[in-house]
Amino acid sequence: MSTSSDPQRHALVTRIFHGALATAVILQLVSSTTMEFAYRGHPGNLMAPLHEYTGMAALALAVLFWLTVFLRRRGTPLGMLVPWFSARRLRGLWDDIWVHVEAARQLTLPDHDDHAPLPSAVHGLGLLLITGLAASGTFWFVLHSLGLGGNIFVRLVLFLHAGMGVLAWGYFIGHVGLAFLHHVTKHLPLNVMWSLKS
Ligand code: HEM
Ligand code: HEM
Repeated sequence: MSTSSDPQRHALVTRIFHGALATAVILQLVSSTTMEFAYRGHPGNLMAPLHEYTGMAALALAVLFWLTVFLRRRGTPLGMLVPWFSARRLRGLWDDIWVHVEAARQLTLPDHDDHAPLPSAVHGLGLLLITGLAASGTFWFVLHSLGLGGNIFVRLVLFLHAGMGVLAWGYFIGHVGLAFLHHVTKHLPLNVMWSLKS
């Protein structure tokens, strides 16, 4: 079994934005379970503004994360996070899916590969999903503040936002679950992403 415990695997700036974005998303998911918005005389609760303002901070962090991906010299290349426009990368992704299926059939994890197409593509989808959630929430907030909250299009955006929220729970549980599984099976220690060593 190969291991990759080099904390230099991800640049410090990547680790900082990953940690900040993850914290914001955790606050978002937790606040979404109890938030109540002020509506027709009902006062709402503090979780609603917490969700809105942390969500807009999450949008800024997601944009900064994407900028880091574009500009960094070390870490997963953009084309691996978003392989959907390259036939060569799609073939690599397909092959890697089979490697993972075979490993799953033997109830094991594939040997760790720094450039594995499947985990990278899933990370990219997760980042796109979180960006879409934060952008749709912010879009709704701005138009709602302008008094356009009742517009059918604005309501549709909020409906899509809540739908993407369900997917975000799935991504969060899967991603964090696999991160801990890789850690305990010594395939990839958590400190590759959760360390502030430069
Ligand atoms: C909840 C919001 C989170 C989001 C949106 C997120 C997103 C991402 C993304 C996009 C990457 C790939 C980064 C890159 O290649 O540049 C990544 C990697 C990673 N994440 Fe997260 N993450 C989140 C939370 C967490 C949490 C809570 C943990 C651990 C407890 C975690 C552990 C890791 C690890 C260990 C990696 C490195 C994987 C590797 O190098 O192959 N993440 N995450
Ligand atoms: C990463 C950022 C975000 C995440 C992960 C997130 C997550 C969620 C989730 C999971 C729900 C579903 C709650 C439910 O139906 O039980 C939700 C609903 C909601 N979010 Fe967000 N959100 C984010 C950003 C924002 C932003 C920036 C705003 C506004 C400024 C916002 C406003 C709302 C509102 C108004 C609802 C209620 C939707 C409804 O009533 O159907 N969210 N969000």
